[in-house]
Amino acid sequence: MKKAGGGLKPLVYVTRKLPEEIISRLKENYEVDMWPEEEVQVPREVLVEKVKKADALLTVITDQLDEELFSAANHLKVVANMAVGYDNIDLDAASRRGVAVCNTPDVLTDTTADLTFALLLATARRMIEAAEFVKNGEWKSWSPLLLAGTDVHHKTIGIVGMGKIGTVVAKRAAGFDMEIIYHNRRRHEVAEEMLGARYCEMDELLAEADFVVCLAPLTEETKGMFGADQFRKMKKEAIFINASRGPVVDEAALYDALQSGEIAAAGLDVFELEPIGADHPLLPLPNVVALPHIGSATKETRLAMMDTCCDNLDTIFADRAPQTLVNKDFLNWRKQEWSTGSLGIAED
Ligand code: DGY
Repeated sequence: MKKAGGGLKPLVYVTRKLPEEIISRLKENYEVDMWPEEEVQVPREVLVEKVKKADALLTVITDQLDEELFSAANHLKVVANMAVGYDNIDLDAASRRGVAVCNTPDVLTDTTADLTFALLLATARRMIEAAEFVKNGEWKSWSPLLLAGTDVHHKTIGIVGMGKIGTVVAKRAAGFDMEIIYHNRRRHEVAEEMLGARYCEMDELLAEADFVVCLAPLTEETKGMFGADQFRKMKKEAIFINASRGPVVDEAALYDALQSGEIAAAGLDVFELEPIGADHPLLPLPNVVALPHIGSATKETRLAMMDTCCDNLDTIFADRAPQTLVNKDFLNWRKQEWSTGSLGIAED
């Protein structure tokens, strides 16, 4: 694989330290430059400098790829974002410059659904509180209502955002004999037929669900979609779960709803501004279970996500359309480049 213009291997800038096996794989085809920290984000000014020389970026969700960043790029061909979500990337800015943006769907679907359902169970059955109780030496005796939570089985789950992850959460819910209702931009006939899921308008879902599970992606339309009004429409016993993106929820309104007893509890894997500190207002509430955005965090899945990123880079530099391209406009741009013969991507 040659770089555009026939030079050395294409240069990939990796914005977070990745395991050696992934870097070795990348090095077979690319020059690799990598931010050396695993838990610290690459500073903005470093990323802006690095993108000037890069042919490809392998990014994570904390990197903001906006107009300014794309305009600093000189020969960037592809961004492989290690996530299914891509709200950290300005797709228009990428498409206008003929940069392909790819994500990592599918490989994380089951894992993220597992975590979402685990969070629902943990919140309903007060598992984190109970584990802390034991560790703190507070367990004195079995007692009739000690740490009594609420049942999950045979209740109603309301899934907002019935994409791939939502559907697999519904499958888990079916195993718990739950009634499944959902709200989505489009009807999901397969989930309806195979899992008995019932489509509802949003207000109906909020009024009926015992568990409201948010899996909607973050877009201009979904930003703040769970606010004071929505929490008011939920049952007092409702448990709210968010495993998509923090800004889909108005956190101040959620705080008020939890504090005033408008809803019973919340399980949150994502927050408006991540990472949150120990002083975040939601944390002292006993009816909140908070996790550090670990939906897809298993070793198997994270490695599979990294491999998908590598596959996407390989297809782009082999002049083929990647399987998980997000900005479909890129293909139109590319057809035009083909017709004028100025694509600048060379094969081995
Ligand atoms: C995703 O893939 O979008 C997750 O939120 C990051 O693991």
